[in-house]
Amino acid sequence: MSESTDLRQYIGTNTAIRRYLLPDSSSVTEEGRLSIGGCDVIDLADQYGTPLFVYDEQHLRNRCHEALAAFGDGVAYGGKAFLCKEMARLVNEEGLHLDVATGGEAYVALMAGVPPDRMVLHGNNKSDEEIGTALHAGMGRIVVDSFAELDRIERVASELGGTPEVSIRVTPGVEAHTHEYVMTGQVDSKFGLGLASGAALEAVRRVDASPAMELVGIHAHIGSQIFLLQSYAKAIELLAPFVNEAGVQELCLGGGLGVPYVEGEEAPTITEWANMLKQACAEYGIAARITAEPGRAIAATAGVTLYRVGTIKEIPDVRTYVAVDGGMSDNPRPVLYGSGYEAFLPRLTLSERPRQVTVVGKHCESGDVIVRDARVPTELEVGDVLCTPVTGAYGYSMASNYNKVPRPAVVFARGGQSRIVVRRETYEDLIRLDE
Ligand code: LLP
Repeated sequence: MSESTDLRQYIGTNTAIRRYLLPDSSSVTEEGRLSIGGCDVIDLADQYGTPLFVYDEQHLRNRCHEALAAFGDGVAYGGKAFLCKEMARLVNEEGLHLDVATGGEAYVALMAGVPPDRMVLHGNNKSDEEIGTALHAGMGRIVVDSFAELDRIERVASELGGTPEVSIRVTPGVEAHTHEYVMTGQVDSKFGLGLASGAALEAVRRVDASPAMELVGIHAHIGSQIFLLQSYAKAIELLAPFVNEAGVQELCLGGGLGVPYVEGEEAPTITEWANMLKQACAEYGIAARITAEPGRAIAATAGVTLYRVGTIKEIPDVRTYVAVDGGMSDNPRPVLYGSGYEAFLPRLTLSERPRQVTVVGKHCESGDVIVRDARVPTELEVGDVLCTPVTGAYGYSMASNYNKVPRPAVVFARGGQSRIVVRRETYEDLIRLDE
């Protein structure tokens, strides 16, 4: 993330946008325009308006397929990366389970028709209501995060009946090489039960002794946007004796596999990641079945954002600001984590990008930057559709209505057809909760 921006200083990025930052089915028309899923993206921008999230449906399906082939049955999609009813259906159709982090995510998945027994409920502070939903619906797993939650499950289960299958979320005590805000495996974390402190072992004993639930697995998620597989190997080494002693059937190693956002970044594929995890588990003698719940690695590169350029402000010898019709409300990642992105013109997909500009949004904040020091074609002008690739994960899902900006529409494109999966918010939507 912050490394992404640093990398820019060393790597010339005036070349055309790289293929590996675009969705699988991307192609370039004879006129040099970008097409995704067989749909010309500028036509999509004209048809559906901007800002617009465009997903390559086949890319999403390909990554789900890859995850299932790599890990086998039980691998889940981390729904927090991007979730709507259609996405939940797609994931289910492709045979993945679904990790839901809140009652709200569970509700979307249930409304989409995902069978509850294929859902895994996460959360570091699940409410009685969320636990009740899990029990009532018959969710496949509850991932226990604290002792208070164990008390809560016992109480809710005694009221509602049922014996949920649970996993225990363990913080193994490793610091993954990623942004501090998305590190979760270290001792000092709000998530999970510590391995070193003995809390994890105590939780295993409590669950084993409890008639209200059945222990099926251990869970560890060490962070997100991780490029270095050694971080996982370290976690596995630390977890191995514990997992074997707990005698559970399953070890879920969470999500976290990084994706390249800007030129010069490289990440392992889902298959490489899975092989490495399985190999490390075998080396450390872990008998349990290995599974995972990737989010970003499935959704990020599948999606792009299309904006319309509204103003260009050149401040001689200082900077050129290119303002688009979205901003931190549809992509808060640059503001939150200093994340880097690329930008290009889909009408000139293959053009070099020698011109340096800063792409900003339309919000009332100077920090509302989408791409600092972006490289774009010289021809960029007011009215252009500008594309930022790799926005399929943690973009729409973290979108807000700041400044009462309606959230964009989301379109799936495949085989030359496009369809709205989430409609654009209207001004009426902005007051639908107001009394
Ligand atoms: N499992 C658990 C328990 C998680 O907490 C997460 C992500 C995942 C799986 C999926 O992780 P992924 O494969 O997507 O890295 N908003 C941040 C990322 C937050 C990740 C939260 N947990 C960002 O935009 O980078």
